[in-house]
Amino acid sequence: MTSINYSDLIPNNVDLAEDRRLQRALENWHPRFKDWWSEMGPAQFQDKDVYLRTAVDVGQEGWAHFGHVQLPDYRWGIFLSEAEPDRKIGFGEFKGEPVWHEVPGEFRSDLRRLIVVQGDTEPASVEQQRYLGQTAPSLYDLRNLFQINVEEGRHLWAMVYLLHGYFGRDGREEADALLERHSGDSNQPRILGAFNEKTSDWLSFLLFTYFTDRDGKYQLGALKESAFDPLSRTCDFMLKEEAYHMFVGASGIGRVIQRTCDLMQEFNTSDVREHGAIDLPTLQKYLNFHFSVSLDLFGSETSTNAANYFSAGLKGRFGESSYSDDHVLNTHSDYLDEIVGSDFITKEYSAITLVNQELRRSYIDDCAKGLRRWNRIISEMGVETVLTLPHEGFNRHVGKFRDYHLNPDGEIVSQAEWDKNKDSYLPSENDREYVVSLMKPVYEPGLMASWIAAPSTGINTQPVEYEYVKM
Ligand SMILES: [Fe+2]
Ligand SMILES: [Fe+2]
Repeated sequence: MTSINYSDLIPNNVDLAEDRRLQRALENWHPRFKDWWSEMGPAQFQDKDVYLRTAVDVGQEGWAHFGHVQLPDYRWGIFLSEAEPDRKIGFGEFKGEPVWHEVPGEFRSDLRRLIVVQGDTEPASVEQQRYLGQTAPSLYDLRNLFQINVEEGRHLWAMVYLLHGYFGRDGREEADALLERHSGDSNQPRILGAFNEKTSDWLSFLLFTYFTDRDGKYQLGALKESAFDPLSRTCDFMLKEEAYHMFVGASGIGRVIQRTCDLMQEFNTSDVREHGAIDLPTLQKYLNFHFSVSLDLFGSETSTNAANYFSAGLKGRFGESSYSDDHVLNTHSDYLDEIVGSDFITKEYSAITLVNQELRRSYIDDCAKGLRRWNRIISEMGVETVLTLPHEGFNRHVGKFRDYHLNPDGEIVSQAEWDKNKDSYLPSENDREYVVSLMKPVYEPGLMASWIAAPSTGINTQPVEYEYVKM
């Protein structure tokens, strides 16, 4: 069941036509999604032809088809990865038993909650990025933005399918609520903090796709391990799309750095603002911000909820099978560095209560890889600056560090010291104003804004100067 049926109103590979009730329920939700997309999705550009990829098959080869399409005509659908025959639960109390194809009654509300929290982030990011098209640094980047937006819209469909298909009436209500909460809305905000922040400029967007979409990778990776097989298969396919979002961030920041270093060399100065680029200290501050808000998304370091999800088999660790322990964790210890008084103390915990923290650690290691690549660009240009990830406890609002101020090096500082130095840790008002002032649209095929270098290759073997969006 890998091929996708595009003749249905809702493209799918789940034999939707065989389940009339579900099909009708989703067809009812469809116009609400369309309304949400036109009201909260990309402002303007809805009538432009955009060079987008659409999934045509979920198998290893040829799952993506490229062509120009207007955004409202994009074929959002329900795509699950192929079922793994005889798949067994890989962790927790039920390890080794067959996976579930229906939701067990006792885990119904926990599973629904996990799906709703994940589902809520998908439309949230589209809302956050609504106005970015108006200041795109190139047609290539504009196209990438819209590619990400339509795929986040599809991820919403993926979660809504699970809610409608497996959670009856409460599932349908939750699916409606996913379109009623909005990013930054004071009455009905999105569930998680980072998804209520503004993404008002492209530097923030590129860092968001690097750091916050990567949180998505880790959450989806943990849910992919789930004993609830439809959730596992849904997340597996979403992960394939997610990889591109992180590429946009990693390569985009690489291009920002390249441009900055080119100008530093050409004019023999570190003051690249004069030349309309983003200086490395400012980039470091933006990086500090996006990394720290993304760390909050993993929740508290110690968590009984997370432990319960793990032992029930609902949510595992990233790459669960790569761990060499017993995958039950009841008898294992793990260690956490936390602040007691004014010192760091290493405390021992039962490993199962630290699974959130374990996911965050995997994430931090992954984030560091991109930094190494960015630093290579900088050093190859003969520049001495080194970009770094701030300490895990820096600027945190969730978890054990929330009551402390730590500087990016991880030293505990007083409120007064924090206030005094805050503008050197995080983007100041002035930095934000400067970055926003650079955001002028460039819609000429092949041309780039002053603050970013051209990509080394185009999309799907097209040249960089291809007309990715027909203006
Ligand atoms: Fe997503
Ligand atoms: Fe994403």
